[in-house]
Formats: sequence, structure tokens, C-alpha cells
Amino acid sequence: MKKTVLIFVSVLFTFVSCKDKMNQFAVPDYKSWKRPVAEILDTPIPGHGESYRVIYANDIAFQSKIIRDGNTRRVFMNDGSVIVKEVYKKREDVGYKVPGLFIMKKDIKYPEALNGWVYYMKKPGEPAMEIKWRMCVGCHEAANEKHPYFDGNKEGMFRDYLFVNIAR
Ligand code: HEC
Repeated sequence: MKKTVLIFVSVLFTFVSCKDKMNQFAVPDYKSWKRPVAEILDTPIPGHGESYRVIYANDIAFQSKIIRDGNTRRVFMNDGSVIVKEVYKKREDVGYKVPGLFIMKKDIKYPEALNGWVYYMKKPGEPAMEIKWRMCVGCHEAANEKHPYFDGNKEGMFRDYLFVNIAR
């Protein structure tokens, strides 16, 4: 009996660690990417305390379009878009210390994507962790209506879950 349990446990562990590897997201070399906003962001975000943030996006994201959908306009972010947000604790750390990373990757075919997006969080020195629960998306839904950040999405346009406006 003990042996069966042991085998079961080790099989489970192999399965879990394989699964972890599958989900492990290799953070791209984003430092050469363009920045949709030049400034270091320091507006307080509810529940996040004080932080200083820098956003980068890949070329696929920058090629995304605002499309017509009947009488309304909406953002459609291209499949393969990646947006990386660096988070620093102090302004003087920006560009010097290793930041925490918040990452959104558009991966329409990924079955566990949330409205087409996969969300990751990476603490310095740790692998990127996929966030499958509503923690990120629950707040990013607010980007699809008027909000207090950047241009404020005054039209209340569907912005494909991004606060910053990258699509043209
Ligand atoms: C409480 C609300 C809230 C939560 C929760 C949240 N975000 Fe955000 N996020 C924002 C706001 C507001 C911005 C606008 C930029 C700024 O000021 O940092 C933003 C910006 C971003 C950006 C840059 C693209 C954009 O939308 O402007 C990324 C990438 C991002 N967040 C990823 C994440 C990930 C990953 C998580 C979960 C681990 C997460 N966020 C959780 C509010 C939130």
C-alpha cells in the first residue's frame, strides 16, 4: 500500500513539475523595445502602495489597430503582442536595480488565456508565474471603459484590457 502511494506521489510530482516547465514563461529581452509612454509612472494604483513603473511593448503590439465594429471603434491587439511593465520601489532604482515585472501576452489559442491574454508576474530572481485567477484581469477590465489613467479612454472604447493606448 505504502509503495503504491509513493509511486503515485512521485508520478504526481513529475506531472506537476512538467506542467510547471510548460507554463514557464521565458521573459523576452524587452529592454530594446519601444515604450508606449516615455515617463516613469508614479500615479498610485489602488492596493499597490508606492511604486515607479516603466512600460515596454514589442513591435507586434505597436502594429495593432483600432478597428470598426458596426458603428463603434474598438482596439484589437494583435496575437503575439507582449507588454512588459517594470515595477520599482524607489525612483532612483529605475534602470539600476532588478525590477519586478508584470507581463501581458496576447495568446488567443492558449486555452487558459483570459479574454485572449495571459498574465504573468515575476519577482526579482524568481521565474515568471502565470496568474490564472482574476487578480489581474479583474482590474484590467476597467480599461475598457472611462478610467483615470493616461488619456482616460474618454470614448469608453473597448481597449482590449490595456490602460495605455498602443493601437493606432
Ligand atoms: C488594481 C488594479 C490593477 C491590478 C490588480 C493590476 N493592474 Fe496592471 N495596470 C493597472 C493600471 C492602472 C495600469 C496603468 C499603468 C500604470 O499606471 O501603472 C496598469 C498597467 C499594466 C500594464 C501595462 C499595459 C496597460 O494596461 O497599460 C501591464 C502589462 C500590467 N498592468 C500587467 C498586470 C498584471 C500581469 C497584473 C496581475 C499580476 C496586473 N497588471 C494587475 C492596474 C492594475
